[in-house]
Amino acid sequence: MARDLTQLELLGELQPVAEENLNRHLSMAKEWHPHDYVPWDEGRNFAALGGEDWSPEQSRLDEVAKAAMITNLLTEDNLPSYHREIAENFSQDGAWGTWVGRWTAEENRHGIVMRDYLVVTRGVDPVALEQARIEHMTNGFSSAAAGGHDQMGFLHSVSYVTFQELATRVSHRNTGKVCNDPIADRMLQRIAADENLHMIFYRNLCGAALDISPDQALRAIADIVQNFQMPGAGMPNFRRNGVLMAKHGIYDLRQHLEDVVMPVLRKWNIFDRTDFTAEGEQTREELAAFLEKLEKDVLKFEEQRDRMLSREAAKRQAAQAS
Ligand SMILES: [Fe+2]
Ligand SMILES: [Fe+2]
Repeated sequence: MARDLTQLELLGELQPVAEENLNRHLSMAKEWHPHDYVPWDEGRNFAALGGEDWSPEQSRLDEVAKAAMITNLLTEDNLPSYHREIAENFSQDGAWGTWVGRWTAEENRHGIVMRDYLVVTRGVDPVALEQARIEHMTNGFSSAAAGGHDQMGFLHSVSYVTFQELATRVSHRNTGKVCNDPIADRMLQRIAADENLHMIFYRNLCGAALDISPDQALRAIADIVQNFQMPGAGMPNFRRNGVLMAKHGIYDLRQHLEDVVMPVLRKWNIFDRTDFTAEGEQTREELAAFLEKLEKDVLKFEEQRDRMLSREAAKRQAAQAS
């Protein structure tokens, strides 16, 4: 059985990969400005400055778009928790430290632009939004809990964020589509492009870790895949909003399996690698069994969703007829 590397050994061995991928990121990242994505001419004062406070009819967003926007924004707002996780598990030195700072700055821009958009267009209740932000940030977020693990460490962290960045990319992208507003769509496409670049950085680091210490890295990946939760857990109304988002295809189980989990596992070549020992083989079998079950859960979920949607449509028709 191969010996597990310590955190320090992993960070040391992966330092050149971090540097190379930091440089790759900096050369690919596009400069963009939140103010360019917000229709400022729609803005007006609230009651405190002599204008009118928010009321529901001012919003152009439907319930699904509101739920998705709020969930995605609160996730971005919780950046201090994610920063803490990454900063604790990555080194502060050299390329590692530069990445942590740069990534944090880029993520912060996502919360800025979404809040500006929502407040200026009166898309959601700004008072409820602020209360939810305070509650969510006070609860904080621990990816240890979301990954079902008490001990995160570098490998669990880097595999968690690989999946999470890709999941937020999918979620932002699909939220843009249901907003029914080309301005929101453009903004969320812009954010989704950032998330994709973040995902590539983490995916390349985790892929390099697999080459250096295959069994150990696969163990972390399998833990994360089997316990993965979207970062919204602990958010006010997370269940209700999560269900609405899944029901309307913004982020559902099939997208999770087919657009997030599988493409990353394929990129890492998990099922064709020949460098695992017996221990790694066993982890791989465990992962394969989990994915098979997930595939079945996807079908079950979709059947339930179809039934629910047709019941609702029938109800609407009955209401219109009466
Ligand atoms: Fe983000
Ligand atoms: Fe990101």
